[in-house]
Amino acid sequence: MSYHRCSLKSWHTFGINVYANNIVIATSTASLFYQCQKQDYQKDEPILLLGQGSNVLFLQDFNGKVLINRIKGISIVEKTNSWLLHVGAGENWHQLVKTTLDKGLGGLENLALIPGCVGSAPIQNIGAYDLELDQVCEYVDIIFLSNGEYRRLNTIECCFGYRDSIFKHLYKDPYAVIAVGLKLKKKWRPILTYGHLRYLNSKTVTPIKIFNAVCQMRRSKLPDPRTIGNAGSFFKNPLITSSVASDLFSRYPNISQYLQKDGQVKLSAAQLIDHCLLKGHHIGGAAVYGKQAIVLINTGSASSEDVVNLARIVRQRVAEKFNVWLEPEVCFISATGITDSVKVIT
Ligand code: FAD
Ligand code: EPU
Repeated sequence: MSYHRCSLKSWHTFGINVYANNIVIATSTASLFYQCQKQDYQKDEPILLLGQGSNVLFLQDFNGKVLINRIKGISIVEKTNSWLLHVGAGENWHQLVKTTLDKGLGGLENLALIPGCVGSAPIQNIGAYDLELDQVCEYVDIIFLSNGEYRRLNTIECCFGYRDSIFKHLYKDPYAVIAVGLKLKKKWRPILTYGHLRYLNSKTVTPIKIFNAVCQMRRSKLPDPRTIGNAGSFFKNPLITSSVASDLFSRYPNISQYLQKDGQVKLSAAQLIDHCLLKGHHIGGAAVYGKQAIVLINTGSASSEDVVNLARIVRQRVAEKFNVWLEPEVCFISATGITDSVKVIT
């Protein structure tokens, strides 16, 4: 299916009314590649891959073709100690979590209700409630859009980090994630270290109970993009060195600090923004969400400029108070493609 000079409003969760030259839905690797080959004849028109648009901010109209990845298919193979899943990049992530639970396979429940497609999950290494994709990911299959070359990357090659992977850095040659391989261990262990999950009984808990608790927590604090435009956490939680952290602690003993395995210290961006009394602060139609300060929302009529200006103010206020510079988690898209988000709000 292909649409010409079309609004992207319903194709991304911020709900901002921007346009693309073309929007094309690709349901197979072949059609994805065919669309890119056709592109060669209309030279220099950029291409943007999109799943469900739940982690993007369009800065303006996109002067090219948007390819919506809807490559489907879930296959499950039983191994001695695990289940191996091969999942098409266009499958919905939350539906996949539900499908695995319906089949009695635990392991993805902490990642329930994260919007988006399976193929987008490795790009920022989605995570929630102390589980990140890299803990269950076996491989990521991609094709390069210039020549159709296929490559399978194992988890080490993906260089996963906190909201980070090789896909945000090395791949300048346009590529598409076409499938993701996941491994769910038969010996299921609950992860009950985050938030209200701590109150669940580790002896009687089941994957479904965790799924329900995660959904409940998320619904209580995150806005539903179907009614309030947003892209989840707008900023990443900042990672700082232990010496910067101890200096900060001496000035602000109430600020939470989370020691990481590599010795760095993670701060809560939500808490820093909250301490700057920015909840509810708005510019035009963009606002800091009242229930979760890390989330910027579209109250109905926000322009891209409103969101950028608000993000800039939030970043500046946090830096003035805490000397910590927040970085966006959301991918910023200019007229030609993904652009440096920090530069835009500096
Ligand atoms: P999109 O927004 O469509 O794309 C994101 C980026 O990936 C873009 O740069 C796009 O060009 C690129 N891309 C997409 N598909 C492909 C492909 N097949 N090949 C190559 N490039 C591609 N994230 C978390 O990690 N944890 C959370 O708890 C979480 N909660 C959220 C809650 C809400 C309410 C919202 C709105 C978002 C939340 N997010 C969270 C962010 C978001 O859900 C994830 O980043 C998700 O993986 C994005 O999927 P998507 O399909 O919508 O990606
Ligand atoms: N807090 C405040 N003020 C607020 C909100 C929260 O002070 O307005 C405090 C809370 O009290 C808590 C701390 O901030 O002590 C952390 O809050 P929360 O548990 O809600 O998590 P978060 O850091 O805001 C991160 C992820 C989420 C993920 C949750 C659960 C990032 C950038 N965000 O949010 O991911 O779902 O943890 O694991 O890492 C996303 O990436 O889009 C996203 C929603």
